[in-house]
Amino acid sequence: MPQVTALPSAPPERDERMLVAVFCAYTATATLWLLFATAIGVLLAYKFGAPDFAPGAWLTFGRLRPIHTNATFYGWASLALVGLAYYVAARSCRTRLYSAKLAWIGLALFNIAAVAGTIALDLGFNDGNLEYREWPWPIRLIFLAALLVTAWNLIGTVARRTTHDIYLSNWYTVGGVLWTCIIAIVAILPWYQHGLGQVSVSGFYMHNAVGMWFTPLALGIFYYALPKLLSRPIYSYALGVFAFWTNLVFYPIIGSHHFLFTPLPWWLQTTAIVFSVAMLVPVWGGSANFLLTMRGRMRTMAHSYALMFIFVGVVGYLVGSTQGTFEAFRSLQEVWHLTNFTVGHSHLTMYGFVTFAIWGGVYALLPLATHKEPSQVGLTLHFWMAVVGSFIYVISLSVGGTIQGLDWLHGAPFIQSVIDMQSYWVWRGVGGSLMLLSHVVFAWNVWRMTYGSGAPIEPDRRAAAAPESPE
Ligand code: HEM
Ligand code: HEM
Repeated sequence: MPQVTALPSAPPERDERMLVAVFCAYTATATLWLLFATAIGVLLAYKFGAPDFAPGAWLTFGRLRPIHTNATFYGWASLALVGLAYYVAARSCRTRLYSAKLAWIGLALFNIAAVAGTIALDLGFNDGNLEYREWPWPIRLIFLAALLVTAWNLIGTVARRTTHDIYLSNWYTVGGVLWTCIIAIVAILPWYQHGLGQVSVSGFYMHNAVGMWFTPLALGIFYYALPKLLSRPIYSYALGVFAFWTNLVFYPIIGSHHFLFTPLPWWLQTTAIVFSVAMLVPVWGGSANFLLTMRGRMRTMAHSYALMFIFVGVVGYLVGSTQGTFEAFRSLQEVWHLTNFTVGHSHLTMYGFVTFAIWGGVYALLPLATHKEPSQVGLTLHFWMAVVGSFIYVISLSVGGTIQGLDWLHGAPFIQSVIDMQSYWVWRGVGGSLMLLSHVVFAWNVWRMTYGSGAPIEPDRRAAAAPESPE
């Protein structure tokens, strides 16, 4: 059975320095985007209670909402995951980065796209009805270029591995980058952007952005960081490969579940529902693999915040995706579609799963790269504020969203649903503020682990910094 074992040999010093510099820069810039995007998120949350607050054109809900979603997707989560994927690829393949220069070019392109996209959206230039691809298309071309550069560099790194096998993590990260290049190309081709075809492509893009980009990259990080932190192999390599292929078969065709009861062909909607149920296979298979790897190690888990972040991420993946399957049924869509329940689901998954996975990965691996640790106080504050804040956020919107949907279903006047939502929106603001505070602490922790003066890493953890082989 393949397992992770530390090797005594170290890569040449210059390559090592380059890898660490790239990892630090991706993580640091991603953190800036997290701070910016979620400050906007909190402002948006309070606008629900006080719609007249900050009324200028530049601060209207319609402009700020896509700024928030695109900045969290492409500034925060994408940059952080690519930085982690580079580190994991070089380490697990016992090699150097294929090209540090390409990694810097990719970083510049991702950031140029995110800055230009943010400015364009705030000036009112918006590709309107295309969710998560509202940036004007020339800017999306820059993002596509960044993806292509990243794919080339990541594949190049895995191709020059000195190990025989390709470790599971790299299947997920390389697969994710390749699929996303295809998805991003389909989403920009002009002949797919008309009529019902456009609706279908919208569903395809929306769900594959989360399912074929963030999901495989985050899972790839779990597969590397968990064995590292627990010093034991992943429970089942075969189950990991099985979840990889079933994810690939089922995920790409579920996008139309975003458009049930629309003029899209009924059979297409039904197919999306059937495959949404089939998604239980990779989701439960993958989650079981992670949870069984952690089994019997509760004491180790309780002493490692990196493991606790990963644990929450795995639970977020399991619960959020299973919730998604139920959400896809027509009977439940009738209640929940277009309500705040969906926003709760988005944050349970993109925050409770993807964002916690990134934090777990960063706390597990960045200290191994830089030999600097954050403080215990910083870790404690970050973890608990993020957990409590997101719990309040998701629960309030799930309960409120259900009441909202039932109001509509029972034909109550629309304003009644707004009145019923008021207290839940206030709670969402409270939860969101805690989450934002936790991000400020995370930024401080990242500073200490990268360019600042963090505590020196424990000597026994230093051995784990060596490259390893999946054999
Ligand atoms: C794999 C199982 C999953 C299924 C079957 C599923 C199902 C669904 C459904 C049916 C909706 C549409 C709700 C509506 O419009 O009323 C939805 C929305 C959404 N899901 Fe999932 N989900 C799954 C996993 C995930 C994961 C892992 C993520 C994030 C990584 C995610 C992120 C989102 C987001 C962001 C939306 C909101 C899309 C929008 O703006 O309308 N989902 N999901
Ligand atoms: C302080 C933390 C955060 C707050 C307060 C916050 C707040 C909000 C608000 C108010 C909306 C608009 C909801 C609506 O249109 O009704 C929203 C949408 C969204 N946010 Fe966040 N957010 C936060 C963090 C994040 C993070 C870190 C991510 C992703 C990694 C994220 C992803 C999304 C997505 C995908 C949507 C669209 C939801 C949908 O249409 O279903 N958010 N957020």
